[in-house]
Amino acid sequence: MPIVTLRDILPLAQTKGCAVGSFNAADVSMADAILDTCVQENVPVILSLAEVHYRYFDLADFLTYLRAKAAKLPIPVVLHLDHGTSFGVIRQGLELGFSSVMIDGSALPYEENVALTKAAVKEAACFGASVEAELGHVAGGEGNLVEGTAANPADFTDPEQAARFVAETGVDALAVAIGTVHGPYQGKPHLELELLAKIRAVVSVPLVLHGGSGLSPDDFHQAIARGIAKVNFFTENSLAAVQAIQELLAQGRPVGYPDLITAAQARVREVVARQIEIFGTRKMAE
Ligand code: 13P
Repeated sequence: MPIVTLRDILPLAQTKGCAVGSFNAADVSMADAILDTCVQENVPVILSLAEVHYRYFDLADFLTYLRAKAAKLPIPVVLHLDHGTSFGVIRQGLELGFSSVMIDGSALPYEENVALTKAAVKEAACFGASVEAELGHVAGGEGNLVEGTAANPADFTDPEQAARFVAETGVDALAVAIGTVHGPYQGKPHLELELLAKIRAVVSVPLVLHGGSGLSPDDFHQAIARGIAKVNFFTENSLAAVQAIQELLAQGRPVGYPDLITAAQARVREVVARQIEIFGTRKMAE
């Protein structure tokens, strides 16, 4: 099946009242575990490579591998650049073969975010790729695995500004800040569902929820019911893989490196399958 863009799958997810998982991979074994699970579940998938993970792989080689693999799969696959922070990174990603990019100007003042996003949209159009942007700011990162992050209401998305942003930039999907954070949460997550509903009422493009790890099934169901069509998800996969390796090592018998990778992949597959069920992604085929 050809590699697709967000435009090819997210509007359908919105109509069906479900979400598509955007799962980050930081290496080939993780990408394989994610893609194989989505084939098994027969659902579309957004396979995301984040700019902050570029240090773990050779981007050109990884994309060559993923493009060849995805083209052979019987499911729609979006190859998505996650959190590209500059025009240069977006252009490089498009040239190397992403079918979709996220330009993240969320830390910039509004007008600068608009200008950067517009430039990304114009560039992506030359490649037929889709563009996601972020308005408001979803905090947190991988450095906070121990203490976690708390969402800051001052950074939440303003509905009127969101409507203006989408009209001014022409993005295909909008990431919103409604209480999620990247990485572990400090305390229990709380989603501002009324705010999400207000954004949905004035923004027509599919909405994206970053920071999926740590949310409950009910959080996801409530958010999807209010227009979330793409969920970004990484930390739980990463931690589950590490836990699988720790458990195997704790058995105290000699194991080889491939055994560790295989155990980690099996755990990632479990987590991805569970999330697909929670997101209701199989509705896409109904
Ligand atoms: P988590 O790592 O918190 O699941 O967030 C992933 C994400 O939003 C990637 O963009």
